Amino acid sequence: MTTQTSLDTAAMRIAATQRLPGPAWDELQHAEILEAWPPPRPLPGVEVLVAVVVRMGEEELDLFPDLRLVANYGVGYDTVDVAACRERGVAVTNTPGVLDAAVADLTLALILACRRHLVESDRFVREQRWRRGWARPELLGRDLAGSVLGLVGIGRIGAEVALRAEAFGMRILHHHRRDGLPLDELLETADVVSLHVPLTPETRGLLSRDRLALLQDGATLINTARGAIVDEDALVDELVSGRISAGLDVFTDEPHVPERLLDLPNVVLTPHIASATVETRAAMTRVLVENVLAFVRGEPLPNEVFD
Ligand code: 8YV
Repeated sequence: MTTQTSLDTAAMRIAATQRLPGPAWDELQHAEILEAWPPPRPLPGVEVLVAVVVRMGEEELDLFPDLRLVANYGVGYDTVDVAACRERGVAVTNTPGVLDAAVADLTLALILACRRHLVESDRFVREQRWRRGWARPELLGRDLAGSVLGLVGIGRIGAEVALRAEAFGMRILHHHRRDGLPLDELLETADVVSLHVPLTPETRGLLSRDRLALLQDGATLINTARGAIVDEDALVDELVSGRISAGLDVFTDEPHVPERLLDLPNVVLTPHIASATVETRAAMTRVLVENVLAFVRGEPLPNEVFD
């Protein structure tokens, strides 16, 4: 039996940079999966593009002369040139509201991993260096309870992080472009600083070399937002010096990770997995599919972004 949904989507040419996880994807069963990005030749006729962390600027838009919707898989859409899309009459949607808990969970996991030397301890055991005693001074961690968490950005994800951190007894400070503590003061005060702002022209390089220098000795920086919010070279210098520690899920030029980080004991590295749970990725697919279906039916887009 052909469902209404597949009739709807069959009428429109939809391309995707990859298949998405979760049952909702079946509703876009007619989507063609692109083998390469950017595609080697123009794709006239494609009206909807499902974009998974790919650059979508003027050059890429040129390859899709009939495009009308970019459905971005993710809440962050910094890889999409929304202004260029708007100029060509291409709408852009994202997937907010369903990944806040998963990202907050990974943020806490990274805080705990850094503050309690989790990865280093694991390596210590696996390398069979645990021969006697238990109080290795280099593995002495820091309590979360009573420590100060500075949140840079207190939107949906930041608020979920605050909720969890409070349960661990952390004291929460926040900086937001409209309220909260001035950023420099937050950086000077917090034991752990965690970034929860989108990457925009205003936040690119927000944690500059000078600002990173404001962090206390022994402080921890957590980044599950976007790598380019931080001056990555300056961060690597700070980490190599051993003055601070960091839990990093995101990098400026993914999947490239600065080589100088790879052997450092004071850094925990994950490959952009903050939203990567079965439930959350399926929910993101559902939100994206709802936007595509709304578009196909000519209905208002639930999650259109404008800047
Ligand atoms: C995804 C993300 O990992 O939502 C975002 O902004 O960075 C993550 O949820 C990414 O979009 C790729 O799926």
